Amino acid sequence: MTGAAHRPAASRDRREPGRPDEDGEPNAEGGALGRGDPFPERATPCASRAADDHVTQEAMVSPQSVTYRKVPTSHRRVMGITLRPDWLGRKTIMDFSKATILVTGGNSGIGRGLAEALASRGAQVIITGRNPGTLKATLDANAGMHGYALDVTDAGSLKRFAAMVTERHPDLNAVIHNAGIMELEKVLEEPYDLDLVERTVATNLLAPIRLTAALLPHLRAKREAAVVTVSSGLAFVPRAEAMTYSATKAAIHSWTQGLRHELRGTDISVVEIAPPLVATDLTPGQSENPRAMPLGAFVSEAVELLCAPETPNEVLVQRVMPQRTAEQTGNFDKVFAMINPA
Ligand SMILES: NC(=O)c1ccc[n+]([C@@H]2O[C@H](COP(=O)([O-])OP(=O)(O)OC[C@H]3O[C@@H](n4cnc5c(N)ncnc54)[C@H](OP(=O)(O)O)[C@@H]3O)[C@@H](O)[C@H]2O)c1
Repeated sequence: MTGAAHRPAASRDRREPGRPDEDGEPNAEGGALGRGDPFPERATPCASRAADDHVTQEAMVSPQSVTYRKVPTSHRRVMGITLRPDWLGRKTIMDFSKATILVTGGNSGIGRGLAEALASRGAQVIITGRNPGTLKATLDANAGMHGYALDVTDAGSLKRFAAMVTERHPDLNAVIHNAGIMELEKVLEEPYDLDLVERTVATNLLAPIRLTAALLPHLRAKREAAVVTVSSGLAFVPRAEAMTYSATKAAIHSWTQGLRHELRGTDISVVEIAPPLVATDLTPGQSENPRAMPLGAFVSEAVELLCAPETPNEVLVQRVMPQRTAEQTGNFDKVFAMINPA
């Protein structure tokens, strides 16, 4: 299932003003990333853009408050090296609507949204979670979905779970590492809460790595398979009050890039979903935050990209682009200041 073999013909031939050319570079008519659509083939319109530039909870950055001139290093040759943002890469991978997909943390928020959206497209979905109440509620609402209790911070449980789930669901060929926590930390408080730091790293970083390691032999035997990680806009511009959270998301982004490269010769595709601030219960009050992207809007835009004929390496809804491209557009300091007011 290599990309070249299945790539739809001429999907890159339709150049329009304001759209990136086939190299991902804004074209001569003045298209600039963030104003033109960076994904010319996408089927859905962009999500609505928020009008203010305040920042709360996970992080909210309004695309309108950041000026996009150019992505200076986008696909240029510097010292003989072609520089191309990883998110511009895309290829035809497995059809998620025909896959058997494990979604960790599928009992709430983004995980439940993805699980239900993929199930409604025809995927077989298996979810995990810690909270038995929300796990049962999700399964009761979704006939045909399977669910298991799992604490992803327990390395032994993860290994046993991987053996069990692949035996009970031999068709399993995709995993979405969605389970995650975000807690604000106070580095100047004495003592600095290192338990928080450790559980954040264990949940957001070690768990996806451990579960991928446990599932890899099974996934490698499949004709096509996928590993999907869930990072964050904060991977690209950190929120200081959640510095460990932001660091785990930056780390999972980096790890995902490495994994994609290392698995390039296999039939396993590696995709990263980097959500912006979304209205879920990730932090207290976040689901009520009017500045957060509505969960339904996020899920439908993200699943449209995930299930596109050519899946991007990074599933990026429009709302996250200011954070994702902050470094490349020279806006890092501005976006950092928006996320971290003085
Ligand atoms: N919402 C946002 O603004 C946002 C932005 C960027 C990235 N993200 C990422 O999106 C993912 C989903 O977050 P969300 O917003 O949907 O928050 P959420 O509603 O709080 O969901 C988090 C999920 O992770 C599960 N989980 C947490 N710790 C776990 C553990 N130790 N073992 C097993 N499951 C565990 C939770 O299960 P239980 O409820 O059973 O504990 C829950 O299902 C996270 O990775 C988060 O970092 C979210």
